Amino acid sequence: MPCVGGIRNSWTHGTDKAIARCWAFGAVQPGPEPVSREVPVGIIVRPMEADDITSVRRIVRECYEFLAEREGFSQEQMARLVEERCSDDWIGEACARYQGFVALVDQAVVGVVGIEGNDVAELFVRPDHHCRGVGSILFETAEQAIADGGHSELTVRTTGYAAGFYERMGAQTVGKMRCPHGPLVGWELTCLRKSISPRSSSGPTGAVGRIDPVR
Ligand SMILES: CC(C)(COP(=O)(O)OP(=O)(O)OC[C@H]1O[C@@H](n2cnc3c(N)ncnc32)[C@H](O)[C@@H]1OP(=O)(O)O)[C@@H](O)C(=O)NCCC(=O)NCCS
Repeated sequence: MPCVGGIRNSWTHGTDKAIARCWAFGAVQPGPEPVSREVPVGIIVRPMEADDITSVRRIVRECYEFLAEREGFSQEQMARLVEERCSDDWIGEACARYQGFVALVDQAVVGVVGIEGNDVAELFVRPDHHCRGVGSILFETAEQAIADGGHSELTVRTTGYAAGFYERMGAQTVGKMRCPHGPLVGWELTCLRKSISPRSSSGPTGAVGRIDPVR
């Protein structure tokens, strides 16, 4: 499996923050210069691997249960979400389709982000780790990977709960749409966009970093 990127942490002693150097690179050629940013101490972000699938499946399920209460998903919608989106098959297929990164705290996977082209297709943080900066660092990692792919705009959709989070990340709500398929078909989604600076002249690299599905 090609290594596609990562976070290098160099701890700043005596503070509760660390400077992380994040870079993304293709299978052969190193990518652009690293960019410095602050991340909360103790969060490590790395490309998702096949071994993460079980942890990710659990996180996705916990997040759907968390969202169901807040968004008012019906029991039938929840049953379909769990059946269709929380299976090893679906997560494995998503891994093959998306460029994925996971966040770890104390060596445990606590969050995942999946991008497809310039779209942040999935972002889930384990509910007991919300509001600790995990979502931010995953979003920023996705943003950088999208910029490294040569894109000048990031897109994302949400059932609503996360719209404020994405706006906090600098995205702007640009409209609404109905979910076209899947367990939440017909559900209103909020669409957001964020302008970004492309960091590569080699053009979009949506396929870089996909991992082999596990069957
Ligand atoms: C949305 C989600 C990814 C945010 O992750 P998180 O780790 O809690 O986010 P962070 O701790 O990095 O929060 C960053 C900032 O956004 C704010 N924020 C977090 N969730 C928010 C929300 N739902 N609405 C408004 N603001 C929010 C935080 O208060 C924080 O603000 P601050 O910098 O002023 O302190 C997480 O709540 C989640 O996984 N939710 C369930 C799944 C989901 O909704 N995914 C998105 C589907 S499209």
